Amino acid sequence: MRIKIQVISIFFMIIFSSSCGVTNKNKIKSPDNSIIADIELENGILSYTLFKNKKVIIDKSVLGLKTDKFDFFDNLVITDASFSKSNSEWEQVWGEQKIIEDNYSQLILTLKSSINSFQMLVHFRLYNDGLGFRYEIESQSGLDSFNILDELTEFNFSEDSPSWWIPAYAYRRYEFLYANTLISEINRDNYSELVEDLTGDRLGPEAVQTPFTTQRKDGLTIAVHEANLTNYSSMTLKANGTKYMECDLIPWSDGIKVRTQAPFISPWRTILIGENPADLAMSTMTLNLNEPNKLEDTSWIKPGKYIGLWWEMIGTNQSSWGSGIHHGAKTDRVKEYIDFGSKYGFDGVLVEGWNLGWDEDWCCTGEGEKFEFYKPHPEFNNKEIAKYAAEKGIRIIGHHETGTQISNYERQLDSAFSYCQENGIRVVKTGYVNDGSQNIKRIGEDGILYKEWHHGQYMVEHFRKVLETAAKYEVSIVVHEPIKDTGLRRTFPNMISREGARGQEFNGFMSIEGNNKPNHTTILPFTRLLSSPMDYTPGIFNLKEYRYNSQSDRTINKNHQIPSTIAKELALYVVIYAPVQMAADLPKHYEGHPAFQFILDVPTNWEKTIVLNGEIGQYVTTVRKDINSEDWYLGSITNEKYRELEIELSFLEKDLEYTATVYKDPKDGGWKKKPEKIDIAEISFKKDDTYRIILPEGGGQAIRFTVK
Ligand code: NOJ
Ligand code: CA
Repeated sequence: MRIKIQVISIFFMIIFSSSCGVTNKNKIKSPDNSIIADIELENGILSYTLFKNKKVIIDKSVLGLKTDKFDFFDNLVITDASFSKSNSEWEQVWGEQKIIEDNYSQLILTLKSSINSFQMLVHFRLYNDGLGFRYEIESQSGLDSFNILDELTEFNFSEDSPSWWIPAYAYRRYEFLYANTLISEINRDNYSELVEDLTGDRLGPEAVQTPFTTQRKDGLTIAVHEANLTNYSSMTLKANGTKYMECDLIPWSDGIKVRTQAPFISPWRTILIGENPADLAMSTMTLNLNEPNKLEDTSWIKPGKYIGLWWEMIGTNQSSWGSGIHHGAKTDRVKEYIDFGSKYGFDGVLVEGWNLGWDEDWCCTGEGEKFEFYKPHPEFNNKEIAKYAAEKGIRIIGHHETGTQISNYERQLDSAFSYCQENGIRVVKTGYVNDGSQNIKRIGEDGILYKEWHHGQYMVEHFRKVLETAAKYEVSIVVHEPIKDTGLRRTFPNMISREGARGQEFNGFMSIEGNNKPNHTTILPFTRLLSSPMDYTPGIFNLKEYRYNSQSDRTINKNHQIPSTIAKELALYVVIYAPVQMAADLPKHYEGHPAFQFILDVPTNWEKTIVLNGEIGQYVTTVRKDINSEDWYLGSITNEKYRELEIELSFLEKDLEYTATVYKDPKDGGWKKKPEKIDIAEISFKKDDTYRIILPEGGGQAIRFTVK
């Protein structure tokens, strides 16, 4: 049993900490000296300039806040500058790697406004993998409450480089395919032309979600994101047709960006920097900029694998969430899933449609029947199921689709999670389907109905409330249609996974024109996955002719195909990190299939992770070492192109011989030709060997290395 993330060793070295030498030009360097930030006050305005390997990567960029009580923008005076260094390590409850190094140089500037004499602190931290900074306003009279009207932070890239982005202020939250354009070409017209038509009604400015990633000509790869988003609104990046971007906070319905009071501290604004995409993908800065674990006991938080009564609704279209002859979550049917899951040692069985609320317009307006979160559907005998699952040594994974009826959910929160505890449910998948981004209904204190954005402060606070309530009842959550992650899993390790990008579901319900393209999963590791684990739900084996025309018309709809191969589906268990991973297909497609063994073997908690290679939107190869054994696992995937990748196996342990079980596409296979054909072979390897990975169009390869 592991209790609480511990700081396992601390070399807390304050090299020097000075409050003297107040100057308008301050410089900090990353511990390895490769990144330098120049922090300058000129004409009363604070700015930063960022260098990597002695080259400017962010031109002079302004910092500041505008509020309804004061501005921290111009007329500033530096009254104190305090430098320090810190180097320590901490252990994750679960993760891509067990130990994380937390090594940084810090500068805290104290500034005063010469107009109103309010005081503000700006914290800067430089790591070897990037820069973080945040604003702090300590208690001072007159600031019991104030509203942030604008955050003025700029991110002025020095080069107009290719970037990978999804639009902000768009109806489907984060569930979009990525556009790839120069920074200066970011706009919805280009998005509509390149990816998906968004030319309809337009709300909000031209902006992108974070993590936002760009790669320079010299290969340096940079992502802008944020860490520890708490009591604030989500940051998007406003684009203005140049290479310069600025912070744009998602507003409340009345236009105010953040409602707050002193003492106040903003989320960290982060600029993650890698020598190349693979280096960027291994960044740990976002986690380091979050607070340590707050949960006393974490023994109930368990990584693992699950199956679920899910694909038969969203993918094969044979069952329904709601009542009727096709209702999926019937007691006997759920028992069949429990039998299968228990036979193969899965940890959980997700059951959707187990409760009441699905029968009238649950999707996609926030209206319709009210969901019940502790009242089971009459066809789902929760007591019998809880007993049966316990006997079979497996747990039910609960499901709370809220349909974004937020007050309805919040009213039931305690009862809902206490119901989970009573019924042996330790993981709940939540959901916030609503196809309109500024469509979250909130009744104000004045009794009036307001419509809020999905990522504004109202929802940031809602998601935190759910997370903390779940922890009280020892439940971990997997959020679908979430806000973005900003590393919160460090502080609340029951924040076990989330969707927050286009997942496998789009291959289920969208036809060939609208499904995820083969390159989508080669973009995710360098964009969305920089922020946290993802519940992508890989592992579909039946890739063609899987979807019925309707629940009652059981003829195949030939207009659907998963743009993947079985080998690629396996590789995704390694490429996409998630502490709880789903085997998403129907049990009958796994039973007796030789490739199923990889899903059974692959762990979800790792000692170490190395991204061996990768180019954004083209390919990526990741290796991870199991936390409980000497085994290594490899996942390699490609986009629409055939490619061969030569890798060194130097990650393997010296003096050991390994058997590699290789799951690969036939050389002449690929997502169009032979997606369901998979070759399985055994090869012997040692540390100094090299290996050529062959990836046909849209394919992948998965390997398990075990010590001989
Ligand atoms: C969308 C989620 O992403 C999906 O997994 C879920 O099945 C449906 N909503 C219904 O809640
Ligand atoms: Ca979704």
